Amino acid sequence: MIALASDHGGYELKRSIIELFAERGILVEDQGTDSGDSVDYPDFGKKVARMVSNGEAEKGILVCGTGIGMSIVANKFPGVRAALVVDNQMARLAKEHNNANILVLGGRTLDRETAKGMVAVWLDATFEGGRHQGRLDKIAELEKTLYR
Ligand code: RB5
Repeated sequence: MIALASDHGGYELKRSIIELFAERGILVEDQGTDSGDSVDYPDFGKKVARMVSNGEAEKGILVCGTGIGMSIVANKFPGVRAALVVDNQMARLAKEHNNANILVLGGRTLDRETAKGMVAVWLDATFEGGRHQGRLDKIAELEKTLYR
């Protein structure tokens, strides 16, 4: 299951991404927001980040105006590796090298087709492990020493 959320700046793009998941038969859980009315992105970002952090959701998608605010929020959560991407290469590498479990997009900076393409690339890519796993282990170790 993939959890999604956006603020008002990402609302329209989130709707398009939900369509993509429906086409692929992927189960999604939409954590809001539910309109283009102004809201605060931390209130929605934290819902998806918490679900990925505690294992309730395997992956997540977050969308705000630029993607920057949602990235900042999501990466506060232990075990979350949220990647803000702007092209297909970044979307692919976010999975292959970083094993990103949340993809973050900018609703005001990306056109719909580009964004949907990046989501598809991220979903279809495979984590390469090896030296990259060692680096992720170091991040996990940092989380332990810094926040626990
Ligand atoms: C909301 O106006 C905007 O600040 C938000 O969507 C996002 O871009 C923050 O990083």
